[in-house]
Amino acid sequence: MAQNFAFTLNATDGAARTGVISTPRGEIRTPAFMPVGTAATVKAMLPESVRATGADILLGNTYHLMLRPTAERVARLGGLHKFMNWERPILTDSGGFQVMSLASLRKMTEEGVTFSSHIDGSKHFLSPERSMEIQRLLGSDIVMAFDECPALPATDEEVARAMRLSMRWAQRSRDAFGDRPGHALFGIMQGGVTRELREESAEALKAIGFDGYAIGGLAVGEGQAAMFGVLDYAPGFLPADKPRYLMGVGKPDDIVGAVKRGVDMMDCVLPSRSGRTGQAWTRRGQVNIKNARHADDPRPLDEACSCPACTGYSRAYLHHVFRAGEMISGMLLTWHNLHYFQEIMQGMREAIAAGRFAEFEAEFHARRAEGDI
Ligand code: GUN
Ligand code: ZN
Repeated sequence: MAQNFAFTLNATDGAARTGVISTPRGEIRTPAFMPVGTAATVKAMLPESVRATGADILLGNTYHLMLRPTAERVARLGGLHKFMNWERPILTDSGGFQVMSLASLRKMTEEGVTFSSHIDGSKHFLSPERSMEIQRLLGSDIVMAFDECPALPATDEEVARAMRLSMRWAQRSRDAFGDRPGHALFGIMQGGVTRELREESAEALKAIGFDGYAIGGLAVGEGQAAMFGVLDYAPGFLPADKPRYLMGVGKPDDIVGAVKRGVDMMDCVLPSRSGRTGQAWTRRGQVNIKNARHADDPRPLDEACSCPACTGYSRAYLHHVFRAGEMISGMLLTWHNLHYFQEIMQGMREAIAAGRFAEFEAEFHARRAEGDI
């Protein structure tokens, strides 16, 4: 396995875990939330501001960067870290999931997937080998295996077929990745909401051997109860001494429930995307800043929050700049949302280390039940 990449588990509380992933580009405290920097930027944020919210690692996307500005151009310019001015760890998703949700004219074979760009319709090809090459050109620290996440609704046969194809692609990803000290390769478990398929997928991935293991194919419309149902057993199928990454999750209560069930890493566009549409997430739940009730409100979004949006501005101001279409609106709300998500992660890390995760969870839900006041 890769040198200079290590996972140290520091404490557990029930199934919940806290630890540190060490990489040559810095440490990742777990449980970790990764802000999404799809197009080589966390939208509306400077990298130093993202760091100030408490992020240790960002997520980037093979699919978007291969289309624009292309992986070869990023490599010529010194790699993704230098290109986007973020020197800490970057995890890149492998592209298949984004092809399924964004590209058109998709054609899937055993070899890989041909598709048309959502930007200009141009034709492209992705395979395990090409995805590994692109992620290497980008300089990604944590590379994801190339997988297929079936679009829902899907039959059991379709979910099983996609999982088994993903396991063959996982082996090809492993072979193509090779030995790259300081860089990690994560496999991705598939199998929908079927326990037997999840177990079969986990066994296939463990036989190949990865530096970490992702749980894919969730948060794709199955609902929180079904997702938690899978998370009640799926993390336990994976090696305890490697990081477990739940892909594309989620809302604050999804994140807390996932960590409770043994997940170490997550990513989601939610805090950054909803910041640009006037949605704030606070300890008391969701706040829609465009609502007229905020127009004369001199209070901050959350009086207990230490982010720039809450220490410097009123709800009335945030409401005004959103309504006026001012850019600072997306900047301030994104900062607040990312700060709040990282505060939840820090709170969970401390609670797990102190053996009081249940108390953290009870307090988290009690605050939300109060509602925005
Ligand atoms: N992002 C969210 N879910 C998935 C998944 O199943 N696979 C990949 N590659 N990325 C994801
Ligand atoms: Zn705030």
